[in-house]
Amino acid sequence: MKKTILIFICSVFFMVELVAMGAQEDEALPVIGCTIYKYDDTFMTGIRNELVNFGQGKANLKIVDSLNNQDTQNAQVDTFIKQNVSVLAINPVDRASAGIEIDKAKAANIPIMFFNREPFVEDMAKSDKVYYVGTQASDEGKLEGEIISDYWNTHPEADKNKDGILQYVLLKGEPGHQDTKLRSKSSIQSIKDRGILVEKLAEDTGMWDWVNGQQKMSEFIASYGDRIEAVISNNDDMALGAIEVLKASGYFVDNKYMPVVGVDATAPALQAIEEGSLLGSVHNDSKSQARAIFNIAYQLAIGGDITEETIGYPITNHHYVWIFGEKVTQENYKEFM
Ligand code: GAL
Ligand code: CA
Repeated sequence: MKKTILIFICSVFFMVELVAMGAQEDEALPVIGCTIYKYDDTFMTGIRNELVNFGQGKANLKIVDSLNNQDTQNAQVDTFIKQNVSVLAINPVDRASAGIEIDKAKAANIPIMFFNREPFVEDMAKSDKVYYVGTQASDEGKLEGEIISDYWNTHPEADKNKDGILQYVLLKGEPGHQDTKLRSKSSIQSIKDRGILVEKLAEDTGMWDWVNGQQKMSEFIASYGDRIEAVISNNDDMALGAIEVLKASGYFVDNKYMPVVGVDATAPALQAIEEGSLLGSVHNDSKSQARAIFNIAYQLAIGGDITEETIGYPITNHHYVWIFGEKVTQENYKEFM
C-alpha cells in the first residue's frame, strides 16, 4: 500500500515537473500576435492552418478572428501591444487601417508586418522595418483570362449567339481590396490581348463569399439568361456559388456548359475542376505565403536579419515578398490536391 502511494506521489510530482518545464519552454519562445480579418473565409483558413504548422515548437502563435470588423481588430492589436508581444502579423480588415497600426506598433517599439491585404504604399514607407506578403494579383487575373481565352479559341460553340463577341459576367471580391481591382482588370485585359472581342453584361461584388456569389449569379441569370457566355470570378468561393445556380438552371448536364473561372485553387475548387464544372482556377499558394509570413514574423521577433536566406523568398523594394500563382485546369489539378 505504502509503495503504491509513493509511486502515486512520485508520478504526480513528475507530471507537475513536466508541465512546468513545458511552460518554461513556451515562455522562452517569441510571441507572434496575429490577426485574421475573418476566420469565415476559405482561403484565409488555409493560411491560418499553415501558419499554425510553421509555428509549431518555434513560436508562441496567438491568432485571433477579427470577425470582419476593423474596430474589433484595433482592440485586438491594442491588447497584443499591452501584452508586449514580440511581433505583430496583421491581416487587415480594411487595408486603409494599416497606417494607424504601424504608428501604434512603432510607438510601442514592436515590429509589425502585414499579409494578404496590402497597405497603401505611403503607409509602407512609414518605417523601413515593415513587411508585406501577398500575391501578384495582376498576374493571377492574367492567368484566369488565359484559361477563358484558351477555351474560347478551341470551342467555337462557346459563342452562343454567334456574334463573334464573348459576353461575360464578372463576380468581384470586396471593394477596395487590391486583389479585386487587379484581378478584375487584368483578367479582361488578357482576354482582349489575345484578340478576343468582349462585352461585359454585368458585374457585381460577391464579397469573396460563396452565398453572395450564388445570389449575384441568380440575378445575372434572371437578367441575361443564356446570353451569358462566361463567368469570371475574382475567387473560387464565388465561382462555386455561381456554379450551384448554374447547375440548378440545367448547366453541366448533356451539352449545356458554361465556362467559369476563379482564383485560389481551394480543395472544393479542385473537386469542381475534377467533376468538370469549374473550368479552371489560379493557385493562390497559401503554404508558400504562410511560410514567408511566419519566417518574416519570426526573424522580426528574434531581432534577426530579414534576407532571402533567412526567409526563403526574395524581397522586392525592401518591404515586399510576392508569391506567384499558377494556372490550374483539368490538365494539372491533381498536382494541387
Ligand atoms: C484573396 C483570396 C480570397 C479571399 C481574400 C481575403 O487573396 O483570393 O478568396 O480570401 O484574399 O482577403
Ligand atoms: Ca457571343
